[in-house]
Amino acid sequence: MITGLSHVSIVVPDLDAAGRRLKEVYGLSMGEAKTNEQQGVRLAYVELGNARIELMEPARPDSPVSKFLERNPGGGIHHFCVTVDDIAAAGARLAQGGARVLGEGSPQKNVHGERIAFVHPKDFLGALVELEESGKP
Ligand code: CO
Repeated sequence: MITGLSHVSIVVPDLDAAGRRLKEVYGLSMGEAKTNEQQGVRLAYVELGNARIELMEPARPDSPVSKFLERNPGGGIHHFCVTVDDIAAAGARLAQGGARVLGEGSPQKNVHGERIAFVHPKDFLGALVELEESGKP
């Protein structure tokens, strides 16, 4: 059901500053920033080869990640994302096991057009987990 790690996501107060910092200190290159209007975030990815770092900043004041920044003004890890082969099947199986899948029934899409859903943190050992439907093995 879960086939791999897609990314670890970090909320940052300033996406462009975060990209410059990762470049200067770590030699990492951040890709082009895109806005996910549905989720109210502006985000970009750092490719690590076997997984990515996702960097997110609020795209509007009522963005869900604005609240996160209020609690963590310097930013911090927000969620991690695993790939699944079939998001509907994964959601159904997790629901059977008693895990709350957020947004199930009306799957959201990420900026790459892949279908995504989130597992409630209380149902995954305290961590917010994103599920991403990926055609990749
Ligand atoms: Co993510």
